[in-house]
Amino acid sequence: MKIKPFLRWAGGKQNLVNELLKNSPKDANINTYFEPFVGAGTLFFANGFSKALISDINPQLINAYSHIKTDYNKVYELILEYNKNFNNNSEFYYKLRDKYNKERNNFDHIQAARFIFLIHTNYNGMYRVNKAGEYNVPIGKLKPCIPSFSDFNRISEKMKNTKIECFDYKEVIKFVGKNDFVYFDPPYPPLDWSNPQNQFTIQNFRKEDHEETALFADELDRMGCYVMISYPDIQFIKVLYSKWNIVTLDNFRSISCKKQRGKISELLIKNY
Ligand SMILES: C[S@@+](CC[C@H](N)C(=O)[O-])C[C@H]1O[C@@H](n2cnc3c(N)ncnc32)[C@H](O)[C@@H]1O
Repeated sequence: MKIKPFLRWAGGKQNLVNELLKNSPKDANINTYFEPFVGAGTLFFANGFSKALISDINPQLINAYSHIKTDYNKVYELILEYNKNFNNNSEFYYKLRDKYNKERNNFDHIQAARFIFLIHTNYNGMYRVNKAGEYNVPIGKLKPCIPSFSDFNRISEKMKNTKIECFDYKEVIKFVGKNDFVYFDPPYPPLDWSNPQNQFTIQNFRKEDHEETALFADELDRMGCYVMISYPDIQFIKVLYSKWNIVTLDNFRSISCKKQRGKISELLIKNY
């Protein structure tokens, strides 16, 4: 049974989940599943691999995963309380955001609940911080769609055999081996390199980082891993992965920035 992520997340792949599953390797001997840019973990929650390592560079995101794994009932209780008091009230949102920022070096279940609730009620499930590391996303317009207690229970069960780590994606090299399956979903490159968006963390994912990701993917390929990578359909990426098997998906992502409007298709890049 496919499990839905407990977060909405900018760049999340919910609308592509069936294509991701269809394009995943079918080898019954796959050892461990790795998702080193996990975000909301769309593919991790949808697939049936029993052993996994999920990781991300965002420490508060990883704190949320860790507490959902070990004490989701305490996190859920707080989320329910926030939801009762929220009522699409912006004063509540901004007060909670202040508390979250004051406690940003804490990694307890209360921060996990604040993080999850803020992401569910903010603008487009975005996570963005300023130079001081303070989360600064404004309130959104939609009513929050919080998972139920039994959803959290299922999510926690799914993570029983899952290692959860906060580190740069390259650290997975210490854990991967032959016959593991690694899915990469890095922050997408901007269509205009002169205007990079600091969308996910305080660090930008620059052009050089995408080039380095491609070299890293080659290394995993040489080690005998199955590798699948998500990207938008842009020339820079097609050149970077010209030796790989590239599948163009029919799904389109909306783009709305001042210079370019329209839609762009998605790529799945595979070594199998
Ligand atoms: C496009 S999102 C992943 C979305 C995910 N596939 C989903 O469906 O929700 C990219 C993620 O990469 C993470 N990230 C950015 N730079 C990273 C790095 N150097 N190492 C590991 N994770 C990183 C971000 O925090 C973000 O969660």
